[in-house]
This record gives sequence, structure tokens and C-alpha cells, in this order.
Amino acid sequence: MHATESFRIEGISGKKELRGTIAVSGSKNEALSLLAAAALFNGKVPFSNVPVISDIEKMTALLRHAGAVTDEKGSAITVDAATISNGRFDRETARAFRASIILTGPLLARLGKVTFPPPGGCLIGKRPIDVFLSGYERMGARVCTTDDNESFEIVAPEGGLRGAEIFFRVQSVTGTEALLMAASLAHGTSVLHNVAMEPEVTSLVRFLESAGVEIHGIGTPILTVVGNGGKALSFRGEKPWTITPDRIETGSFVILGALCAEELTITNCDPSQLALPLDILKTCGVPIETTPDSIRIRDNSKPNKSFSALTIRTHEYPGFPTDLQAPFGIFATQATGESVVEEMIFEGRLGYLEDIARMGANVALAHVHKAIIQGPSSLSGRELYSPDLRAGLAYIIAACVARGTSHIHNIHYIDRGYERLEEKLRGIGVAIQRVKA
Ligand code: EPU
Repeated sequence: MHATESFRIEGISGKKELRGTIAVSGSKNEALSLLAAAALFNGKVPFSNVPVISDIEKMTALLRHAGAVTDEKGSAITVDAATISNGRFDRETARAFRASIILTGPLLARLGKVTFPPPGGCLIGKRPIDVFLSGYERMGARVCTTDDNESFEIVAPEGGLRGAEIFFRVQSVTGTEALLMAASLAHGTSVLHNVAMEPEVTSLVRFLESAGVEIHGIGTPILTVVGNGGKALSFRGEKPWTITPDRIETGSFVILGALCAEELTITNCDPSQLALPLDILKTCGVPIETTPDSIRIRDNSKPNKSFSALTIRTHEYPGFPTDLQAPFGIFATQATGESVVEEMIFEGRLGYLEDIARMGANVALAHVHKAIIQGPSSLSGRELYSPDLRAGLAYIIAACVARGTSHIHNIHYIDRGYERLEEKLRGIGVAIQRVKA
């Protein structure tokens, strides 16, 4: 990607003109977690339906830096971590994305020592890593910083990590994933209390179970993991492990369809992972039909049809996902009445609404966690700077709704998480172009 690329979008002035079928790619966050988990294996682990996005390229680069061999053919990726030997992360790559922290779990368990910089990522508020560090300490590891104070160094006890009782201060998704991975190779049983229950965590549990790890409590906030005694895992599947569809991409396409499409069919998705967001939209009047692997919005262009306002409050799964908060914020600008959007997971994730207000939306930021949006408003195209990948797609939706042209900058954030986005959007009628400055 060119560093100064941007998207130029011609809006459709609130008309519902898009139509067709749009397919969802594999889940970014599940793929990041499962690719990291491949470092627990002493041989090849093949995956299919991996999204072709820059965050995945970074994860495979980190795995190779650690000594693994990767074979990447589009959405088919095989990781062979038999030769893994280096627990010192590639600094620049690790700092470029938050999910690099997940890899600390399997590398510590496999190699007994990891050295890594504080992870980077999207600008969505403070993102501490205390849950990871205190969890490893509970398993007997020693945590310190390197002499230059630039990296953390974690050393497992003599003989390897020990199973432990771990209480999560917050239900961290990647924290749960990393500690599950570490516990899988530990000596003895671990009991993880107050873990995240997001679908990505459940997928990881299923993946580890498929390799023979004994885990109890799947889908609940307490997971009991019987460690493998330091022995690396082996892949037992006959086919590649398939990454499930991305629920956040799916939900964002539903919002785009609700606001801009006459008819839209979203394929290769799993509506069961979006039960709450879809229910909210149906209550607002969005004509949604689902099958087990598709979502259809139909008869959406009736004259005088308006959607009603909504109240959302982000929460750990099965609550409303923070990663869908921004697209729903755009929906609120087009719904009739007063909507309330509360962001409870991250404190920096409502900032995008200031830009949306400059497009013409009626937004009052009550405080860092709460916005009140009065709709409907007509939006005008603008110059926008994407603050993170989820708000980036929300800007694209707002630009489609708006009158006139929008230019969206910082699209490297969007490329981190959405595969072939402009090609997919053009396929349903969005006038979007990638522009090189
Ligand atoms: N937290 C701590 N200490 C920790 C870890 C987390 O205080 O050690 C706090 C965070 O600051 C936050 C809350 O706990 O307030 C929850 O954060 P969590 O750790 O669950 O977030 P994460 O694991 O870093 C994952 C996703 C995010 C998604 C969140 C919440 C991945 C790679 N990332 O992040 O996805 O927003 O869970 O569901 O799985 C995205 O895809 O755009 C994205 C940001």
C-alpha cells in the first residue's frame, strides 16, 4: 500500500441506490489468535478463509521472525512452528499492531522466555497489558523490563509454566486468548476466572480442543485448562482449519445496506454471532431476513420509510460489540429521534463523531463515554482522517450516505482489517476509488 493513499467516495445523498450481493471475509481477530496459537504446535497447521489484510501479514512476519515457516497462498495459510527458537519479537512489527501481544503466550510456553515491546495499534484510548503480565506471573514467570527500558522480558520458571488460578481484572479478549494458550502447555491445571466470552475466544477453545487440550467451561466466564506438561501440540485435522466469517465486517455491511441499499444480500456470514445488533436494527425498522449463512435487506426503499432511534451501550460479549459502535453511530444520524450511544469498553472511541458532526450530523458528546445523536440529518461530503479501522469503515458508510464527495485519509488503518474493500463495495454500486497522492 502507498503511504499516502486515500479513498474518494461520491455520496448518494441519502438515496437507497446500492444493490446486489457482498461477501464477508474471514474474521481478522479470530485469524490473528489462531495463527498465534499455531506457535504451540510442533509441525504444520493449515488454515483456510484467512482474510488477506495487513494485520495478518504482520502476524505471519512475527511468526517467521520467531523461526516458524509460513506458506501463504491468499486465504490459505500454513504455519509450521516445529523450528521455532527465537523469543525476541521483531520490534518494529510488534509495535505496529496490538494483536502482537497474543503471541507472548505461546512463545513463552514453547521457549520459556519472551522479549517484546509494548504493543501498538489503533488509537482507541489506553490499552494496558497488566492482565497478561500478572497472569504469566501467576504461572510462575518473572516479568521485568530490558536494560534500555524499551521492552518487557518474561521468563518462565525452571521446568516451564505452572498451571494456576488466575482472576481477570477485566474481561480482556486477547488477554484470555494469550493465557489460554500459555495454560495449554503448562504443567498442571489452570482455572481462568472472569474470561472474555467473545466468539473468537470460543473458536480458540475449539481449536485447542481439536489438538487434544482438555478445556472445560467453553462459552462461560470460567475456563479450566489441563496443561499439556510442556509438550508441543500436533494438528490432528484432515482438512485445513477454517476461520469463521468476520462478524464486525458483517454488521458494518448491514448498516451500509440499511442506509444506502434498496436490496442487499450479505453472504458467507454467521448471523448467529450478531443476534443482539440485528435485533436492535429490526426493532428500529430495518427489513432484515436471515438464513444460517446470509443476511438480506429487502424492500428497503419504500417512500417515507424511516428508522427509529436507538440506544446502545457497548459491553463484553454477548453484549453490544464495541467494534460495531461506530457504524451504529452513523445509523443513528439517519434514524428519526434521539439516539444514545454509550462506549463502555474504550475511552477514546467516540472521537469519530466530531468528524461526523462536521458532515452535518447533530451530535452532543455528553462525556468521553456517551454521545447523544439527534436524527435524521443530511450529511455533506468532507475530508476525513480515519482514527482507527472500525471508525474508518464507519466514515466510508457516512460518505456513501452524504451529498457530494468525501476523501478519507489514513486508510492504512482500514487496510489493516478489511480485505479487498473497495472491490467489494464497487460490486454493489459504491462510487469509491483509491487515490494515490
Ligand atoms: N484492558 C486492561 N488491561 C489489560 C488488557 C485490557 O485494562 O491487560 C482493558 C482495555 O483497556 C479495555 C478492556 O480491557 O478497556 C477490554 O480490552 P480487551 O483486552 O478485551 O481488548 P483487546 O483484546 O486488546 C480485542 C480486539 C479489539 C476489540 C476488543 C474488545 C483483537 C486483536 N482485538 O482487543 O478489536 O475491540 O477485543 O472486544 O482481538 C478491532 O478489531 O478493531 C479491535 C480493536
